[in-house]
Amino acid sequence: MMQIKVAKDPLAVASMTVDFLVGAGEKALKRKEGKGTYNLALPTGSTPIETYRELIERHNQGRISDDFIARMRTWNLDEYLPDPGREVWPHHEQSHRTFMERHFFRFLPFAPGANRILDPAAADLGEECRGYEQSIAVQGGLDLALVGIGTNGHVAFNEPRADADSHTGVVHLAPTTVSDNAEKFFKGDLNAVPKQALSMGLGTILSARKVILIATGHAKAVAVGASVLGPVTGWCPASLFQNHADCTYVLDTEAASLLIKRAAGPDGRLAPGTSLLRSEAGFSHSLIC
Ligand code: PGA
Repeated sequence: MMQIKVAKDPLAVASMTVDFLVGAGEKALKRKEGKGTYNLALPTGSTPIETYRELIERHNQGRISDDFIARMRTWNLDEYLPDPGREVWPHHEQSHRTFMERHFFRFLPFAPGANRILDPAAADLGEECRGYEQSIAVQGGLDLALVGIGTNGHVAFNEPRADADSHTGVVHLAPTTVSDNAEKFFKGDLNAVPKQALSMGLGTILSARKVILIATGHAKAVAVGASVLGPVTGWCPASLFQNHADCTYVLDTEAASLLIKRAAGPDGRLAPGTSLLRSEAGFSHSLIC
């Protein structure tokens, strides 16, 4: 079942996302009777920065315990593969390894080896990807995948047209992704953005027991609209979550604007608590703001 939660702004999205993430973690650890770990797939990008900041702040305030953090195991969704002859990754300033250290890992007491990211410098990339999948399986599978969505509907670096059952492997970035990421992270320099990456497969992401998709800003409205209202198709990879048993979208009003417009009255307004898609069976939507 898919749920859609709409918060008033990106800070409220982060707060709601952390509520879900911690709540799901506490349940997962309880289910594992105190012995297991809380296994998460984690995204990079501009959207999750506030979520990471909120997690760090709650830990600093004592609202998230050291023990909870120590029991988290994380696998990042993707990592760039350097173009031949370019600077050595994964220590590049825009590598996802660097991003995660900068925004998240270094602030929290994770257990040694708890944070895995695909290694683009591995001698055998196929082996690296298979080992990644295996490390998730050995740990008992993903309890939760926290994901973003690209303006073209991609999830991780699974670009249109992606396979619902794809495994972790080498992928090519779509031109829209190259230009989006050039704008956000590479000072607009298209040439500086690697054109290939290692990405967790959609099949792997879809195997997570719970998925939370976060999106903020007008630029995501069309992709969000297509993924919720459109057909389930690899041409819009995020639409594949429509078939997931437990997927929650956490959106701000801008990212949800097409969904809100569709459900609003003639005055363009939507009362709090109004369902975003009244008629669709199997969907549960609520508006928080
Ligand atoms: P963003 O990227 O958070 O920087 O918008 C999301 C994505 O491309 O998955």
